[in-house]
Amino acid sequence: MNNNPSEGKLMDHEADGIKELDNLLPRWWVWLFNLTIIYSVIYMIYYHVAGAGDLQAAEYTKEWKRGEEIKSAAITKFESGIATLTPSTNKTELGEGQRLYVNYCAPCHRPDGGGLVGPNLCDDYWIHGSNYVDNVKTVINGVPAKGMLTWRGVLNPDQIKAVSSYVYTLRGTSPKNPKPAENTVTAPTGPSAFE
Ligand code: HEC
Repeated sequence: MNNNPSEGKLMDHEADGIKELDNLLPRWWVWLFNLTIIYSVIYMIYYHVAGAGDLQAAEYTKEWKRGEEIKSAAITKFESGIATLTPSTNKTELGEGQRLYVNYCAPCHRPDGGGLVGPNLCDDYWIHGSNYVDNVKTVINGVPAKGMLTWRGVLNPDQIKAVSSYVYTLRGTSPKNPKPAENTVTAPTGPSAFE
């Protein structure tokens, strides 16, 4: 009886003293391997021949669109409730507002709100309305023609509320060398020359 399982299996090559036995691969391994081949054929037909599934680029575009829809729905909901908004007094929210202000708004309005490219946000003179809701609207819509950026879609609704609440706390503070008040332009009262 043959007690040596290796007998007759030794292959006739050798490298650096290492020899190889011609063992059969385990059945489960061979079947796993066969399955990957079957899977790849199905995959190729499904995605590349029949075009039944979305490839990466299409999947990305779909996800992106869904994200944009969620975003614009949130913005629309936020904007429809703007009229009743009140400035937050919550410390965490104001802290977040300050962080956003320093990052995004200070380059134009100065860290202390004194005004630089943008107007002074601490005085009683306002170009686009003085109350909190007016401020929120200006922040959302911007004044593109005058260099105030539109923050809709850049900051999310919570961030817009927070940063506007922080701006609200700047009222009545007296920064050094503030930018002079700007709204000296009087609003037109009668019909314009073109009407
Ligand atoms: C690129 C410069 C710039 C940046 C950045 C900027 N602003 Fe302005 N902002 C302006 C200008 C310029 C105006 C004046 C617009 C006008 O004259 O109609 C303005 C106006 C405003 C007003 C209205 C002031 C008024 O008198 O009615 C508010 C409120 C305001 N900005 C808040 C912010 C906030 C909050 C941020 C940050 C999220 C910000 N701004 C970022 C340039 C900027």
